[in-house]
Amino acid sequence: MNEKPQRYASWTAGKLPLPELTELKRRGEKIVMVTAYDAPSGRLADAAGVDLILVGDSAGMVVHGRESTVPVSLDEIVFMTQWVTRGAKRPLVIGDLPFGSYEASDEQAVRSAVRLVKEGGADAVKLERGGTTVARARAIVGAGIPVMGHVGLTPQTATVLGGFKAQGRSAERARELVADALSLQEAGCFAIVLEAVPPAVARAATRTLAVPTIGIGAGAETDGQVLVWHDMLGYYEGRAPRFVKRYADLGDTIVEALGRYAEEVRSGAFPEEQHTYAMPEEEQAAFASAVASTRAGAPPA
Ligand code: KIV
Repeated sequence: MNEKPQRYASWTAGKLPLPELTELKRRGEKIVMVTAYDAPSGRLADAAGVDLILVGDSAGMVVHGRESTVPVSLDEIVFMTQWVTRGAKRPLVIGDLPFGSYEASDEQAVRSAVRLVKEGGADAVKLERGGTTVARARAIVGAGIPVMGHVGLTPQTATVLGGFKAQGRSAERARELVADALSLQEAGCFAIVLEAVPPAVARAATRTLAVPTIGIGAGAETDGQVLVWHDMLGYYEGRAPRFVKRYADLGDTIVEALGRYAEEVRSGAFPEEQHTYAMPEEEQAAFASAVASTRAGAPPA
């Protein structure tokens, strides 16, 4: 921890320059992205040397306890982006445009993206799907805001896709998926997330696109990987998708720590003297006699 990565071509201090990502792809060096939703997680991801932090609408499920990402509001993503950017100084922070914040028109998409950058402090925004989303991406890029695309399993529209299922498993769907990724690149996206697609499809997209691909459940041949914070650190109780690797079991660690705390409070073992504040002896004596005389019915000294 706290070791700043030396693998960047132009970065010396401060925020990672966006062109570093294409440079990493060109050199065949993997890009590391993780989600984060508050200042401590932003700070820890920065300290661990990750390149990109996504303030994902996955927060709706892993933090807010909802069944899907659909109800997440733009205000919620703005707040969480403010928290994350207070903690993360070097990684590029990407604010996720939630469902309902960009579909209606290019104007709505630009307005929402501007909020994430201006109020949230995001460096870039992400939106889901190809199709009509391509024009929205182009409009946001036109307004001067970097955009990350997201194709394959797009949780905001999972109902249309038939649920949380792998995508691009037929030749036709795989071809459409790569075409969507290309359209998003042509619209100006600086990177594309490929979620839950077979490795062959991710490989084709990665070789076809000039911009980096970031995979989640897309195999090892993308330019980078992303995982959801609570999934990878083991403190999300819901069923994690098969592509998740657990790097820690923080849920168990937290329950164990809270259990010990409860036990020590109940037994009186906590707090100890080291957890209390000292009072000068003469003040304590004066206070004790004041308390004693109050008890005896006399007015306090
Ligand atoms: O919201 C999110 O966390 C995401 C990632 C899974 C890419 O979109």
